[in-house]
Amino acid sequence: MQDDRRLLVGMSQDSLLQRLAQQLAKREAEGTRRHLTPSGSTCVDFSSNDYLGLARSEALRAALHREVVEAAGSTGSRLLTGNSTATEALEVHLASFHHGEAALLFNSGYAANLGFFAAVPRRGDIIFYDEASHASVKDGIRGSFATAYSFRHNDVTDLARRLQRTNLMAAGAVFVAVEALYSMDGDQAPLRELAAFCQQEGSYLVVDEAHTNGLYGLNGEGLVAELGLTEQVFARVLTFGKALGSQGAAVVGAAVLRDFLINFSRPFIYTTALPPTTIAALTAAYQLLPTLAAERQQLFALSDLLKTTLNAVPGLHVPEVSHVIHPVFFPGTTDGPTHVRTVAQAAQAAGFDVRPIVSPTVPAGTERLRLIVHSFNTEAEILALADVLRAAVK
Ligand SMILES: Cc1ncc(COP(=O)(O)O)c(C=O)c1O
Repeated sequence: MQDDRRLLVGMSQDSLLQRLAQQLAKREAEGTRRHLTPSGSTCVDFSSNDYLGLARSEALRAALHREVVEAAGSTGSRLLTGNSTATEALEVHLASFHHGEAALLFNSGYAANLGFFAAVPRRGDIIFYDEASHASVKDGIRGSFATAYSFRHNDVTDLARRLQRTNLMAAGAVFVAVEALYSMDGDQAPLRELAAFCQQEGSYLVVDEAHTNGLYGLNGEGLVAELGLTEQVFARVLTFGKALGSQGAAVVGAAVLRDFLINFSRPFIYTTALPPTTIAALTAAYQLLPTLAAERQQLFALSDLLKTTLNAVPGLHVPEVSHVIHPVFFPGTTDGPTHVRTVAQAAQAAGFDVRPIVSPTVPAGTERLRLIVHSFNTEAEILALADVLRAAVK
């Protein structure tokens, strides 16, 4: 009896593993299978999100050494033993730095988006989200009981059309979800237009500032603050795994929103809080941000240089609208993922950390290299990379 059961379980495990293997084989055949490769190479970095070099900065490491961290782990959820005065002090600083009323930490940007969208919009509400929104926003929306519709990327006219088509008489709150700067295309959302539209329609604008936090604004407060739109935006998601060189995220908004998330947001409640080391790193990074104006200026200058240099290479196209994150397309090529991978491999062999982005991360047919510029890159590195890409696409 026992043996029969074991045999059955064994067989079903085999068939399940077979099913998983078939799905992987399908991706392999399509050229879209993902693989893990250890980072930390000696290649020139045109890939990481460490825009200002804070993850590797001496100043941040020195500041971290000065911090007294009393435990390695936070030991529990914020609602149990994982809270601390340092964590709360950081949240108070985040709220004032980003010109908001209150801030609540999450363990990652992914958790913050999941935690906001799955908790705040409820049944009867409607969420309109930009079709290029990050997976974490889409997953949060999937976890919500609200009805959701995408609108064409950065197209406020399409958003208005869709909103009109929806029977708003029956609807509760209407949310509009966008990113300040899109992670795959490097283009900015038309935030002024969106804010004006949401104000006119009485909808709630939610902005993911993953790729603008630390970079835009006088002190790196983000694009919403730079544009003076903090009052018109219902909530901002500010992440720390990119320009802040660390990890975690915060939702910034009204104090009542913070209280609500503490009570209803499952990715906040049911998880071990960020460790004291991360709280210390974030506290130090936020002290450094106002001192990094020269780095921000250098980053934007290099970003423009990369765009003009690569657009001068026959066979490459970098859209004019991209900033900091630059998709590089190969007009006229038909073998999408394979071509992008081959060019990326050539760049890697020449010492540049350059990654291909293929479906399903981006829609099939829009495969690209994704180049990220950092304040610590140099003009010489950009020119050398352009030469390598020129040779690779010949
Ligand atoms: C736009 C956007 N939002 C959210 C996230 C998730 O942030 P985190 O890496 O902190 O989970 C990312 C990261 O890739 C992102 O690009």
